Amino acid sequence: MIHFYHVTKRFDAYSTALHDVTFHIEKGEFVFLTGPSGAGKSTLLKLILRQMRPTEGQIVVNGRNLNAMKRSHLPYFRREIGMVFQDFKLIERMTIFENLSFILTAIGLSAKEHKKKAYGALRAVNLQHKINYYPLQLSGGEQQRVAIARALINDPLMLIADEPTGNLDPDLAQEVLEIFSDANLRGSTVLLATHDRDLIQRSHRRVIALDHGRIVDEKPATAEKPAARGESMFVNWS
Ligand SMILES: Nc1ncnc2c1ncn2[C@@H]1O[C@H](COP(=O)(O)OP(=O)(O)O)[C@@H](O)[C@H]1O
Ligand SMILES: [Mg+2]
Repeated sequence: MIHFYHVTKRFDAYSTALHDVTFHIEKGEFVFLTGPSGAGKSTLLKLILRQMRPTEGQIVVNGRNLNAMKRSHLPYFRREIGMVFQDFKLIERMTIFENLSFILTAIGLSAKEHKKKAYGALRAVNLQHKINYYPLQLSGGEQQRVAIARALINDPLMLIADEPTGNLDPDLAQEVLEIFSDANLRGSTVLLATHDRDLIQRSHRRVIALDHGRIVDEKPATAEKPAARGESMFVNWS
């Protein structure tokens, strides 16, 4: 699903953010990308989304060679990807519902379908009762969960998250992780960048570790699976 072949990203003569990086993530995997600040995590994610291009090497995402992809195809390519960033940007003058349905307007669904999808996505993050609130009426953690709901609303093939738990306390971080796990169970391939070692250690997932732009460690998922949870808290909103 995500393939990097000898990818180097150089910003200038003094700054090589990624250095000869090769890895493969298959459909349905849940992978942590970790490493200290400045290791190259955000750069790697931006390359996957083709927000930037590699200096050297090839990237294939969802069967597409990103070096060869035409600019006009980018919106279609990105539609299959849910993205979550640390500085989630909700639009303050819009309600939570409007923030979510805004994403759906491009796809041309009926108003009724908007409501159903938005409600389903909010239920998944346990915020359905806040559907008519404005972002500033929610706590930071709740706003982040709305941003995740927004990323999940189209049941993306792939979820790419950059430090999605960065501003959250450990309990909330765990909760957010479970939301991603649920999305993964429902079929989304997940790549989650974080420098939170505790979060990673508790979850027994595959880990790719970067340092100074190089892969320094790769750990497969360990046999011990995360504790089985009861029925998924996701409703089927398809
Ligand atoms: N647009 C840019 N221009 C120049 N250097 C950059 C740019 N973006 C990132 N870098 C550099 O690339 C390196 C990796 O950055 P980044 O990918 O943001 O790391 P991380 O997300 O792991 O903290 C850093 O040294 C950073 O300063
Ligand atoms: Mg970063």
